[in-house]
Amino acid sequence: MTAFDRDAFIAGLPKAELHLHLEGSLEPELMFALAQRNKIAIPFNTVEEVRAAYSFSNLQDFLDIYYQGAGVLQTEQDFYDLTMAYLTRVAADACRHVEVFFDPQTHTDRGIEMGVVIGGIARALADGQSQLGVTSKLILCFLRHLDEDAAFATLEAAEPYLEHIFGVGLDSSEVGHPPSKFARVFEAARAKGLHLFAHAGEEGPPAYVWEALDLLKIDRIDHGNRALEDEALVARIAKDGLTLTVCPLSNLSLCVVHDLTQHPLRAMLEKGLKATINSDDPAYFGGYLNANWHAIAKALDLSKQELVTLAHNSFAGSYLTPTEKQAHAEAIEAWAERF
Ligand code: ADE
Ligand code: ZN
Repeated sequence: MTAFDRDAFIAGLPKAELHLHLEGSLEPELMFALAQRNKIAIPFNTVEEVRAAYSFSNLQDFLDIYYQGAGVLQTEQDFYDLTMAYLTRVAADACRHVEVFFDPQTHTDRGIEMGVVIGGIARALADGQSQLGVTSKLILCFLRHLDEDAAFATLEAAEPYLEHIFGVGLDSSEVGHPPSKFARVFEAARAKGLHLFAHAGEEGPPAYVWEALDLLKIDRIDHGNRALEDEALVARIAKDGLTLTVCPLSNLSLCVVHDLTQHPLRAMLEKGLKATINSDDPAYFGGYLNANWHAIAKALDLSKQELVTLAHNSFAGSYLTPTEKQAHAEAIEAWAERF
């Protein structure tokens, strides 16, 4: 009997991605092309110089450069190209479904119209489904370092485009900006029928995860690493059956963990939490979806059964219909039987 070829297994394993910032998929090559197309100066001369700048000690270090990079995105076609490049790349990772974030305030605060941003993204998501077979949902994130009034204004600006928006999320600088700051705007989003997500427990304490659950009433937790510091919180997340969208290479790049062998992914699974593997901002953190799967599988020596569980979790934690989820679950089992 041949040894289990884990890398080949991961490469073809059907999976979903539930934590991806479209602006975080802006590769240096596309950044240069858009800077040229839009006649925008960027403080780098070469792609190598850009990549060399991607060394972070914490979330804020990264965010400063990430918001700067997004400045090259100007036109509807730019947002289309960004989104299509991501979908094309992730389709090659046997990714069949994505639920992606975008940060409208990063663009509207620079004078870009909401319709330009959502129009380009939505057109690419439709083409991604018809041309690549990748289904998707789009989540509008509020920037938590800005105030709640700005979040309300963003929700209002998005009103004409809500047919394209599945939910709202909360991202950017976590510490000092607890979920409670956004309780009213999340309530307003819920009243519009939107689903609710929030980054919580990436750098922030377990108290922020409690707030995200109790005050924002979120449907899924983005990251959630620090929830493990609080046993009662772990029990609550397990009881409610909430999915955690975990991002191994992001956690390593932002020093949330110092070594992937110390990553809490397996501990999450062992505690009954529905953890999933995601890339967060792949252009900045050294790899797309499968790179995250390969890296964490190697570091934790994940078994075939654990990988199958993680693939099932990725669809189970999505907002596909039960019929769609069932079809993906069968595809996972069919792939597993071949190994
Ligand atoms: N925006 C993009 N990536 C993020 C992350 N990992 N945490 C918070 N905000 C983000
Ligand atoms: Zn994120």
